[in-house]
Amino acid sequence: MVNSKSDIYYDPYDFEIDADPYPVFRRLRDEAPLYYNESLDFYAVSRFADVESCSIDWQTFRSERGTVLEIIRSGMVVPRGMFIFEDPPLHNLHRRLMARVFTARRVSVLEDRMREYCATALDPFVGSSGFDFVRDLGADLPMRVISAMLGIPEEDQEAVRDHFDEGLRIEEGRAPDHRETVRSTDTSNFAEYISFRRHHPSDDLMTDLIETTFEDDQGTQRHLDEEEILNYALLLAAAGNETTTKLIGWTGSLLGAHPDQRHRLVGNPGLIPGAIEEILRYEAPSPVQARYVSRDVELHGTTVPEGSVLLMLNAAGNRDERQFADPDRFDVERTIDHHVSFGFGLHFCMGAALARLEGRVALEEVLARFPDWEVDHENAERVHTTTVRGWHRLPVIL
Ligand code: HEM
Repeated sequence: MVNSKSDIYYDPYDFEIDADPYPVFRRLRDEAPLYYNESLDFYAVSRFADVESCSIDWQTFRSERGTVLEIIRSGMVVPRGMFIFEDPPLHNLHRRLMARVFTARRVSVLEDRMREYCATALDPFVGSSGFDFVRDLGADLPMRVISAMLGIPEEDQEAVRDHFDEGLRIEEGRAPDHRETVRSTDTSNFAEYISFRRHHPSDDLMTDLIETTFEDDQGTQRHLDEEEILNYALLLAAAGNETTTKLIGWTGSLLGAHPDQRHRLVGNPGLIPGAIEEILRYEAPSPVQARYVSRDVELHGTTVPEGSVLLMLNAAGNRDERQFADPDRFDVERTIDHHVSFGFGLHFCMGAALARLEGRVALEEVLARFPDWEVDHENAERVHTTTVRGWHRLPVIL
């Protein structure tokens, strides 16, 4: 049943709900497994099984108009090669091509650089009274990693990151202006990085993108054109930055709130990869994925009409008691088969291995220096964007 008689309310732009959405998510799962928000005109599914089954059914739930509510509404023309906003067959072609250059080896060779960066960022705070998990570590690490792959010069990195972050931020109590979101995908300086790499090849991913050849959807063997390379680079920078920053922020806040579990990790660093999975499950950095409904479809006994927007609340799915025992309990030693924080199905996050590695290295390096901390709640600050959920500032007291 859709929630016609229920007083339950959810929308992704409400700051109060966003502060702690889990009580609302529980009610959605129990009382309105297919939720309809009349004022913003969208449907939502919140159970783990529904998030998975809708993610798999790409014929019905389409990405080609965007995967954020206001982007779908804006009617934005999706840039070629931005395959997070594509469906098969084009999605398969573009994703396969990216998989050829964004390899496991390319990810694993970044580990030493990550560790070096973490040491540079954290060493100055040894012996001090505190540092900020986001400002001093989490905000920069992902950008540095992506920049190493794409050849973005150090002096531009901060500006590129801020450009994406600002574009997606929302103001309290109002749905974002569609045009603002679309503007956030402006591409100007990336063209310069590509041009630079064309003339100065290196051993990075950008060089591979420029040099790779493939058979396109017309059957022609060719190189990627300028626009395609640009959109590939932009996709990595947009998808891999804020999400991973949020993972690092949640790591600081959750382990600050659970000192006993933090101590277990200090005593047994082999538990750290599992802890990162639990942090991802418990606080999904990218909690909502939107889809355009391409045909009438029945969900929980109600017809969702063609042309609707469906939100898949993966953060709600991760707390579904139908899937996880005692889901609101944070437990770094929980055995997790899988969660849906990286999505599910054919759009499953391509950067999952990289994000997991960044999360693990960051936590290892923090714990090696600072086995104890407490969050300075008075000075901590949340950020509200249309795509990610987490901390803008997370100062901790050592
Ligand atoms: C903790 C960090 C991250 C989280 C929580 C996350 C989450 C997600 C989610 C939920 C999706 C699926 C979107 C959908 O179904 O519409 C996705 C897709 C994607 N992610 Fe990530 N991501 C993270 C880090 C990264 C990183 C580091 C990169 C690369 C540098 C990356 C690149 C991508 C790409 C390219 C896609 C599109 C895949 C496709 O459409 O086939 N992500 N991510």
